[in-house]
Amino acid sequence: MRKGETTEDKVFPVCKTRALDKYIAAVYEHVVVVPDVTLTPVTPAEALRMMNINLDIIEKAVKEAAKKNAQIIVTPEDGLHGWDFNRETIAPYTEDVPDPQVNWIPCKYPQRFGPAPIQERLSCMAKDNTIYVVANIVDRKTCNSSDPQCPSDGRYYYNTNVVFDSKGKLVARYYKYNLYTGEEHLNPPKEPEHITFDTPFGKFGIFTCWDVMFYDPAVILVNTLKVDTILYPTAWLNFLPHLTAIGINSAWAMGMGVNVLSSNIHNTSIGITGSGIYAPDKPREYYYNMETDEGKLLISELDVHPQPSASYSVVDWKLYASSIKDFSPATDVTSVVIYSDEFLFMELAEAEGNASICHGDLCCHLTYHMVEKRKDEVYALGVFNGLHVAEGQFYLQICTLVKCKTTNMTTCGRPVETSSTLFKEFSLSGTFDTNYVFPEVLCSGVHLAPEIFKVLKDGRLISQSRVSSKSLLTATLYGRWYEKDSVKQFPTLSQQQN
Ligand SMILES: *[C@@H]1O[C@H](CO)[C@@H](O)[C@H](O)[C@H]1NC(C)=O
Ligand SMILES: *[C@@H]1O[C@H](CO)[C@@H](O)[C@H](O)[C@H]1NC(C)=O
Ligand SMILES: *[C@@H]1O[C@H](CO)[C@@H](O)[C@H](O)[C@H]1NC(C)=O
Ligand SMILES: *[C@@H]1O[C@H](CO)[C@@H](O)[C@H](O)[C@H]1NC(C)=O
Repeated sequence: MRKGETTEDKVFPVCKTRALDKYIAAVYEHVVVVPDVTLTPVTPAEALRMMNINLDIIEKAVKEAAKKNAQIIVTPEDGLHGWDFNRETIAPYTEDVPDPQVNWIPCKYPQRFGPAPIQERLSCMAKDNTIYVVANIVDRKTCNSSDPQCPSDGRYYYNTNVVFDSKGKLVARYYKYNLYTGEEHLNPPKEPEHITFDTPFGKFGIFTCWDVMFYDPAVILVNTLKVDTILYPTAWLNFLPHLTAIGINSAWAMGMGVNVLSSNIHNTSIGITGSGIYAPDKPREYYYNMETDEGKLLISELDVHPQPSASYSVVDWKLYASSIKDFSPATDVTSVVIYSDEFLFMELAEAEGNASICHGDLCCHLTYHMVEKRKDEVYALGVFNGLHVAEGQFYLQICTLVKCKTTNMTTCGRPVETSSTLFKEFSLSGTFDTNYVFPEVLCSGVHLAPEIFKVLKDGRLISQSRVSSKSLLTATLYGRWYEKDSVKQFPTLSQQQN
């Protein structure tokens, strides 16, 4: 035996095979069949019938994904029961979800904790197709006056993600913490939960929809618990330019240096679409479709342990911007309110130039060169630096290049889906006080275009040579200064009831 060799090397050569370094993931954008809005609760049988309609559709997607060797599939928030409920009407759609520590395969022992038909079906789907299945249901937990926070109807209702492994075992249960408008019938958990689980293809963490805007639990899963992939069921209403599902999710994967498997509902009449399989270097697959009412199964290969390329851990976001000494701040500035935040915008009046605009301590710098300055399109450089106060309070630092909706500067930052202006180059940077900055680029038609930009280690978001093939809607550095969030992320249960 040579030096350095151990007996194990000789005896168990089979153990020397390399661990998995790639896996195949699937997400399903689902056209939810929603129950009619009622003020009186339906029977549990009727609720189950509704949810089984959605489960039938989802089961097809699960089978298809498994056939293509996907090891995990994510389905959207509200994907089985829909929305528009109050505390009475949600009741028949709920199911008690036990702590995964009980080690339960509902497909084998469906009655172990009382009737659980939804968990049974999901578990069987996972087991029969040998694939991890992620779904969103509503958990119900009874409580009484021994718990001072127990709601007056004696129940907690949680927006709950469940994960069944490829043998059908319940391996994760996550309660959404940052609830959104329309979820007044639900309860957040008392504290944010940090739910992770290990698989042969990496460590997974999970959260839901609006959670993506906050530090806890989303960022903690990545920078403290070191997950490789985030599972992200969502029901995300798109707000152009900065808050589209595909924009935020691709930027979050890049900014945090993790894979994100994001599954959204599909409902064009209420503006919900946008799912994707995102890696830190670029989106692998995504779907955004406001034209037709069709669901979509996305499948792609991912690294088990993705390498961060433009994340908070490798980029110094203000390095370049802080080095700029001789900038002259904008004089002709238009203020525009976008989603309750008052942005400042300056027009890019020439075909090329350098522009700077500041808001408090945040200065945004842009060097740009358009192929041609069109008369019918106006682009602007914008900045916002402040506490956002709608749907929770969170501190934003944003530098953004946008196409304005019309040539009137008061429309900069309003939703616009198409553009014709081509850029030869752009370079955007800002003097951020945070290292959590999410780079977001959207092109005409609301497309992601990873090939037209890159992030440098000095914090510049710059164009790549292929930029002039796509016209830009927005290029944004979306910064979150979490330490300044000051207030609790969501009103506590007792505050809610007051
Ligand atoms: C109240 O809830 C607690 C904890 O769930 C339980 O142990 C207790 O038996 C309940 N009391 C009544 C009167 O139901
Ligand atoms: C979209 O959502 C609306 C509002 O809840 C609902 O009435 C409609 O049936 C949904 N559309 C589809 C195609 O499911
Ligand atoms: C923009 O600034 C750079 C130096 O940072 C300078 O080389 C260039 O000429 C400027 N461009 C214009 C159009 O002013
Ligand atoms: C731009 O829009 C604002 C607000 O609608 C309006 O008051 C203003 O007159 C418009 N300016 C021009 C030049 O049309």
